[in-house]
Amino acid sequence: MRSNNYVENIHDETYERKFNIKCIDEKNMIYDSFRDKEYLNGEWNFQIDPYDTCLRSKWYEEIKYDQNGNKIPVDYEFDKWDTIKVPSCYNTQDKAYLYYEGPVIYTRRFNYENKGENRVFIKFGAVNYTAKIFLNKNYLGYHNGGSTPFYVEVTGLLNKENRLIVVADNTRKEEYVPNKNTDWFNYGGIYRDVELIRLPKTFIKEFFIFLEPRSGFKKINVYIKVDGEKTEGQAIIKIDELNIYEKINITNCEGYLSFEAKPELWSPNNPKLYDVEVFFENDSIKDKVGFREIITSGTDVYLNGEKIYLKGVSCHEESVKNGKAISDEEIIENFKIAKEMNCNFMRLAHYPHTEKAARLADELGILLWEEIPVYWAIDFSNDKTFNDAKNQLTELIKRDRNRASVIIWSIGNENNDSDERLNFMSLLVEEARKLDRTRLISAACLIDNCNLVINDRLEQYLDIIGINEYYGWYDPDLNKLEKIFKNSNIKKPVIISEFGADAKAGERGTVNDMGTEEYQLSIYKQQISLISKINYICGMSPWILYDFRCPRRTNNFQKMYNIKGLLSADKKYKKLSYYFMKSFYETLN
Ligand code: GCU
Repeated sequence: MRSNNYVENIHDETYERKFNIKCIDEKNMIYDSFRDKEYLNGEWNFQIDPYDTCLRSKWYEEIKYDQNGNKIPVDYEFDKWDTIKVPSCYNTQDKAYLYYEGPVIYTRRFNYENKGENRVFIKFGAVNYTAKIFLNKNYLGYHNGGSTPFYVEVTGLLNKENRLIVVADNTRKEEYVPNKNTDWFNYGGIYRDVELIRLPKTFIKEFFIFLEPRSGFKKINVYIKVDGEKTEGQAIIKIDELNIYEKINITNCEGYLSFEAKPELWSPNNPKLYDVEVFFENDSIKDKVGFREIITSGTDVYLNGEKIYLKGVSCHEESVKNGKAISDEEIIENFKIAKEMNCNFMRLAHYPHTEKAARLADELGILLWEEIPVYWAIDFSNDKTFNDAKNQLTELIKRDRNRASVIIWSIGNENNDSDERLNFMSLLVEEARKLDRTRLISAACLIDNCNLVINDRLEQYLDIIGINEYYGWYDPDLNKLEKIFKNSNIKKPVIISEFGADAKAGERGTVNDMGTEEYQLSIYKQQISLISKINYICGMSPWILYDFRCPRRTNNFQKMYNIKGLLSADKKYKKLSYYFMKSFYETLN
């Protein structure tokens, strides 16, 4: 019934507290690859809500009469609002929304009929940054984190006709991950798929399969976790092409198994994938999995026992047309351009890209660095911030740990060295290793520019040291880089995770004309001539494949774009440095 909420909602500045309960996080994840899912994508009613009135005035309760049954005025009409495409970044859907940051309301009706399932979930591929979920006037919970999936159980809450409301909010906040200040565009909205998943009473919740590192490529490990009434039993794993049919005992919801097999190894030149099936009770899942080993020894990286040089390039998740809601075609285009550039590796910066990226990389054969946005100045002394970062890392790893293409988990980028930061990030390394001991852990670290040496204290916790450096650009003195490489006493592999310079696509001039392609090319040439001589450097991912939107970049060449790309933002134009990197990578075996 209606309380005196007209008065209370204009005086209650504590309204958000009631929504800081029912956190939807990695514990709610479901293994959903190749499961039957029904899309809830399409045209949703949409409204920007800069004063958060939906939450303040409880629009989601849809109270339209007072306690005496008299009609009262309301300030919303869900079904009459404009509509917007889901998934999409609302910024790209209407010029009015381009720079909008703040609460927005998405809502749609949908019909549901039980088809014999016992449990029902709704999956959101990603919502930036917070999402509050309401179903049929009930608050179901919230998710934090702008680039990872989350799952809401709606078993028993669905009617024949339903209303779903999502209050999304991409407001940048000091305690968030990333913080308020980033060098990319803060797209907003429900920008990845929304799907309804029907499951039996007991289902397979987690599944991790991997080649045991340093085991001679002949030992496959499997971990399964189930959820539901049946906590004990026997699961089956089948890999027909390897004549594998193994039973896995499930006790207390979990099962582990190691078995011998000699799979054809996955690599960029041979992206071999196997069809894997797992059965438990009335549930089954499938996946396409590649088997490979990635390890380090000394300052070298080995893929399947062979030393490898990571010939890479960095890439944001963005396109001119779709913003961060990048399409499959656009992802494939990025990978094809990288492969044409003779890359075997890409750094997906600075946050988890869509799960489709790693799946496509598995198929196309490209190695990936995936990263959580512990970026620049994070509130390292805030426990809530740590839990947010840890949850995003866990959601990323649980989502992609069966993707052979992913070889590196990166826990951050260019964070200042401090005790709080070292504690925060070493704990993240610990979490990553608990979830996955088969991949390399890294971070893009800064150089000690005073003493001209590589010695970030975080390096001791990493398997591979990422180094971002812009000598020749932000610091014009490239001689420093030579000194740094000489001064540094490095015992593990280093990857130059960023170097580069601005160049306006098509702007020509001389090597002395800042902003021209020639200027960028001369920096690339000097960088490569220095980097390629250093034996503890195992690869690079220059910044960046193509120009990208960034409100921090406002000079006459940039015009709200970061123009360090090797290609123009629309990827129609390749700059001189692209061709230089292509030929350089071609010379490497
Ligand atoms: C930084 C940062 C990038 C940024 C780039 C630049 O190192 O990691 O996110 O876009 O350098 O300044 O262009």
